[in-house]
Amino acid sequence: MDKKLTTAFGAPVPDNQNVKTAGKRGPMLLENAWFIEKLAHFDREVIPERRMHAKGSGAFGRFTVTHDISEFTKAKLFESVGKETEVFVRFSTVAGERGAADAERDIRGFAIKFYTEQGNWDLVGNNTPVFFLKDPLKFPDLNHAVKRDPYTNMRSANNNWDFWTLSPEALHQITMTMGDRGIPKTYRHMDGFGSHTYSFISKDDKRYWVKFHFKTQQGIQNLSDKEAAEIIANDRESHQADLLNSIDKGDFPKWTLYVQLMEETAAGDCPFNPFDLTKVWPHKDYPLIQVGELELNRNPDNYFAEVEQAAFAPTTIVPGIGFSPDKMLQGRLFSYGDSQRYRLGVNHSHIPVNAPKCPFHSYHRDGQMRTDGNAGRTIGYEPNTQSQWQEQPDFSEPPLQIDGDADAYSHKDDDHYSQAGDLFRLMGSDEQQRLFANTAASVGGADRHIQIRHIQNCMKADVAYGEGLAKVLGISADEL
Ligand code: HEM
Repeated sequence: MDKKLTTAFGAPVPDNQNVKTAGKRGPMLLENAWFIEKLAHFDREVIPERRMHAKGSGAFGRFTVTHDISEFTKAKLFESVGKETEVFVRFSTVAGERGAADAERDIRGFAIKFYTEQGNWDLVGNNTPVFFLKDPLKFPDLNHAVKRDPYTNMRSANNNWDFWTLSPEALHQITMTMGDRGIPKTYRHMDGFGSHTYSFISKDDKRYWVKFHFKTQQGIQNLSDKEAAEIIANDRESHQADLLNSIDKGDFPKWTLYVQLMEETAAGDCPFNPFDLTKVWPHKDYPLIQVGELELNRNPDNYFAEVEQAAFAPTTIVPGIGFSPDKMLQGRLFSYGDSQRYRLGVNHSHIPVNAPKCPFHSYHRDGQMRTDGNAGRTIGYEPNTQSQWQEQPDFSEPPLQIDGDADAYSHKDDDHYSQAGDLFRLMGSDEQQRLFANTAASVGGADRHIQIRHIQNCMKADVAYGEGLAKVLGISADEL
């Protein structure tokens, strides 16, 4: 192998230890071209981190179909049992910055890029089936509330819980986050969810609403607050190390994919809004249907190239898979590409980890960091009579019936509590006690009136939830 150091433009570097100076003790010369190149590149090494989900770990692998669901979707990746599709997965924590500790109480990102023969499909999910919000207009506020305070530059329990408790739709997600699953032991020991309702389009153009669930084959394992604190004291990269080391030693993590399905027209009869991201679809009414297996078996060779520069976007879908009227999903359809054009540039789809593995032909041209041949002499417009790439109407989706008046509908009076209460009642009494203790440790740092507001929200889910928490926080019934 050639071990000779060169400049970025290929010329030999004769001295990489000493700059050229005017005289032995004199100042540097401007003609230190190699020094200037080296420092100027170094000065630009940092790119913006993801606004949320900044700390993450990634790995490559494959998805294999084990059960036939081709009746419900024409997506080629699901066309036959045994079919394999290459994937890249990035896991993340949400609120912390790029250098944050892994073992924090937080939801985890679970983003999957399927490199299908019909283009990439990004399923950008979390380790929880629901989310804090149901309206995307509130998303920047959620993040400003959980991230650093503008004055103190510290995370603030007051800001966090002030916003959460004034957004009672968050209670279901808060109950999960403060419960046992709030700190997964590692990325391998947690489930993944598409969370939103998406759609499947069948070969005969029938639409089904669908939810995606990835169940870990490693088993769910979590950390208590105490165990997490001990880990963080010695190791901020516990999830990264676990994923990297297991794959390096050939212990490949696996998840089983299931879907829940609903007929298109059944959405109208559903007792809850099936497009509400704060709700789950009960498994007894919408049973899990097994689909396939996700395995991670190859570590990226270079973290920056393949993990930091990875760009997942809910807009990146393939024929046979579509969106839904979920407002949160609709909001995300704008945000990811927009963020990535800022974070990575307009041509980020060309970065190898993001590029499709099938042929791709668009008329996008030019822009910063266009490093391929820019489609050479190919004309740059459509329609054309030069036999260049034509639109493909065969892949259009069936129309979706919509009704009602355009308005900014308030969700203030929705039922925010039943499913949070169901989750609370599903927990054994030990787990309920841990939920109270974890919540008290977190909300305990906020003002008393905020603690009381949270207890009042919990009461509406289940009186025992509110009372148990009030007891641990030392708040009497008279104060509520
Ligand atoms: C990352 C916006 C809700 C999962 C991001 C990023 C943005 C964003 C701008 C950074 C993207 C990048 O720079 O590459 C939003 C908005 C939301 C929303 C506006 C709601 C309106 C959600 C929900 C989920 C989710 C509900 C899960 C179900 C993720 C994940 C990442 C991410 C996993 C990291 C992807 C990666 O590993 O690169 N989000 N998000 N987000 N978001 Fe969201």
